[in-house]
Amino acid sequence: MATGVIFLGPPGSGKGTQAEILAKLLDIPHISTGEILRSAIANSTPLGQKAKGYMDQGELVPNELILDMVRERLHDQDIQKGWILDGFPRSVSQATFLDELLGEINYAAPCVIDLEVPHDVLIDRLLKRGRQDDTEETIRRRLEVYHEQTEPVTDYYRRKGNLHIVDGNRGTNEVTQSLKDIVQN
Ligand code: AP5
Ligand code: MG
Repeated sequence: MATGVIFLGPPGSGKGTQAEILAKLLDIPHISTGEILRSAIANSTPLGQKAKGYMDQGELVPNELILDMVRERLHDQDIQKGWILDGFPRSVSQATFLDELLGEINYAAPCVIDLEVPHDVLIDRLLKRGRQDDTEETIRRRLEVYHEQTEPVTDYYRRKGNLHIVDGNRGTNEVTQSLKDIVQN
């Protein structure tokens, strides 16, 4: 059966790192809304130009710029075997949108992973990484936005019964092993 995996978790929790590893292992696409937006900025597309200010401030990019992009991506042929979403959904409105979309493309309930990592470890990891939006001020705002808008998504999936909490404050390989155990079951 096709595998749909969603990575939740705060900035710096390892969503991108683990999604990339798991996508290779399972041979399914890794769909990161953050990466799609950063590539749109790098290519100066209209989407990139509209999204940049929000990303630099650590705010969510408005749904009107995100939802069609995700709908199109999940209608591509390469998702037949499965997909991994990293950074989407990050609000309850995006989660209900995704539910409808998965209904349209006949998908069973996805496997939702929440990576848990202590606050000070997140900040330390992001400051060391140094991406454009990894400044102290933007990191602080991204974490606030996560608590305000994305944490309720965790409760949304917990109520549906498909949430798996994983300790992300371990070595990369150990985290991957836990994820394989969850996804391959
Ligand atoms: P996005 O790109 O999704 O960023 P984020 O959620 O802030 O998360 P990060 O990518 O910073 O962290 P990560 O969890 O992927 O961790 P990583 O593996 O890199 O979003 C960026 C922006 O785009 C948003 O602020 C918003 O503006 C916009 N956006 C995106 N999606 C959107 C949406 N759906 N709706 C609206 N707006 C949206 O790891 C971090 C660091 O830690 C790395 O250096 C890594 O090497 C290291 N690391 C990873 N794992 C470990 C480990 N186990 N031990 C030690 N170090 C580790
Ligand atoms: Mg990421």
